This record gives sequence, structure tokens and C-alpha cells, in this order.
Amino acid sequence: MNYPRFVRITRVVRENRNVKSIFFPFESSIDPGQFFMITIPGIDEIPMSVSRILDKEVSITFRKVGDATERLFGMREGDIIGIRGPLGNGFRIEGDRILFVAGGTGIASIAPAVDLAKELGKDIIVVIGARTREDLFFLERMKKIGKLMVVTDDGSAGRKGLASDVAKEIIESNKVDQVITCGPEMMMKKILDLCRERSVDFQASVERYIKCGLGLCGQCCIGEGLRVCIEGPVFDGDTLARCADFGHYQRDSSGRRVYLKDG
Ligand SMILES: Cc1cc2nc3c(=O)[nH]c(=O)nc-3n(C[C@H](O)[C@H](O)[C@H](O)COP(=O)(O)OP(=O)(O)OC[C@H]3O[C@@H](n4cnc5c(N)ncnc54)[C@H](O)[C@@H]3O)c2cc1C
Ligand code: FES
Repeated sequence: MNYPRFVRITRVVRENRNVKSIFFPFESSIDPGQFFMITIPGIDEIPMSVSRILDKEVSITFRKVGDATERLFGMREGDIIGIRGPLGNGFRIEGDRILFVAGGTGIASIAPAVDLAKELGKDIIVVIGARTREDLFFLERMKKIGKLMVVTDDGSAGRKGLASDVAKEIIESNKVDQVITCGPEMMMKKILDLCRERSVDFQASVERYIKCGLGLCGQCCIGEGLRVCIEGPVFDGDTLARCADFGHYQRDSSGRRVYLKDG
């Protein structure tokens, strides 16, 4: 896990105007929710969740936001990236009726868990929230698996509003045993609070700034001594309810607190 292994990209799929998936060979076992540190030669090493688990191949799916993802966005079949992983833990699928709530690129991290829930014969509802219709992806994939509900901030696709509002209606109708979520932390915090009021099992994939990915540097800490790269990135509701920073602030690459804004 200390050194990247270099692999050739086997396929690149454009998911929307700013999101692409990159496929590469991977034959070891990996759980939905785990992530890789991806080396983009000459630029950086960044964390990316596994977004598809296939027979001898996996994919990562990412939005273009800065230097490293911009370079990844320009990569083609045959180009070389480094991978370290799989790192961290995965989602635990429990109960019969499962609600998945994704905001932004969060659907990339939870899609393999939706696939697993389908294999296990669960009743599935997936809520995907995005700013506009152009920011959505994985809709066809999710439609084939369960009941899909789309929400956009501007109403350009699906319902107008927030994914957390739709999740609230579903949770309050007592129709789910478990909620799995990934997306903006304020959204996940609202859903955590709802699940705790109703005693619904909750898991979220949480982002913190990752440097070593090995549990050594402490950069990715959350709560009291938890490391997102080792004890996470998936945490259950009881654990996150004890993390005073969850839904309030994160730390940037130099350790400074960055307070979260709603929306
Ligand atoms: C466990 C985990 C899984 C992730 N999975 C995905 C995914 O599947 N798809 C996806 O699009 N994004 C994912 N991310 C976020 C992704 O790592 C950042 O968007 C990426 O690192 C941005 O790098 P950049 O150089 O393009 O942008 P920069 O301009 O360097 O950074 C833009 C923002 O990205 C975040 N970021 C930058 N470097 C890191 C880092 N080393 N660790 C954590 N966050 C960072 C910071 O919030 C920063 O403000 C994941 C993050 C974590 C922690
Ligand atoms: S990134 Fe170094 S301990 Fe998690």
C-alpha cells in the first residue's frame, strides 16, 4: 500500500460535461465504498472511490475541479496512472428496504453499493440530487436497479429542491430500514439527524483531506482520533453523531479549519 502500482487505462467514458469514468485492470477483492489513491504523474496523488466493480476491471468516476482532476479528465485509453489500494472500509448492507441518497458526485461512491444491494435482493430507492440536469450522471444505470428519484436545485430535471427534502419524506413515511448516503456534508448531516429521530440505520461516506492514506499523518482526522483513510471513509450514524466536526467544519491541506456552508 506504500507505493503506487502503475496501470494502463483500458477505457474512458464521458458521463456528462464535467464528469468522466476511467477504467483500469484490477483483479483483487474490493468492497463498495473503498477508495484508491490515484497518482497523476507529475501532478498529485488524490483519493477516488471505486465507482464500478467488474470482473477484472474497476472504474473511478470524477468531476473536473482542479489540477489533478483536470489532467485525469484529459487522459485517454493507454495512458498510465498509479494506484494504491483498495483503502479504507466499505458499506455494510442491512435490512430489506434501503434508501440511497447521493448529492453531486456522491453517486460515484455509492453506485457499487447499490449494485451489491440489488444482488442481495433488497428493495431499493435511489435519490440523486444535482445542481442542474447537466450535472447528473449514472441515471440509466440506477434506473435499471431500483426506484430512481431525481432532484435538481433549478428544477431542470426531476423535482425542484434538495435531495435531503425528498429523503426526509421517504424516511418519515417509515418505508426504509437503512439509509446510505454520500454527498455534501450538510446534506448528509441533515439526513443523519432524521435517521436518528426515527432510529433508522445510517451510513455515510465522508470526505476529509487525504495525504498518506496509510493512517500515519493524521491529516484526515474526524471526531476524536478517527481517520477517514483507515476507520472510514464509511461511518455509521452513532459514530458520526459523536463527531463534533461532522456537518460543521473540515480541515484544509495545512490543517486549518474550513467551516461548511449550507447549500
Ligand atoms: C475518500 C474520498 C473519496 C473520493 N472519491 C471521489 C470520487 O469518487 N469522485 C470525485 O470526483 N471526487 C472524489 N473525492 C474528492 C477528490 O479527491 C477531490 O475532488 C480531488 O482530490 C480534487 O483534486 P484536484 O487537484 O483536481 O483539485 P484541487 O484544486 O487540488 O482541490 C479541489 C478540492 O478538492 C479537495 N481535495 C483536493 N485534494 C484532496 C485530497 N488529497 N484529499 C481529499 N480532498 C482533496 C479539496 O476539498 C479541495 O478544496 C474523494 C475524496 C475522498 C476523501
Ligand atoms: S491521510 Fe494520513 S492518516 Fe489518513
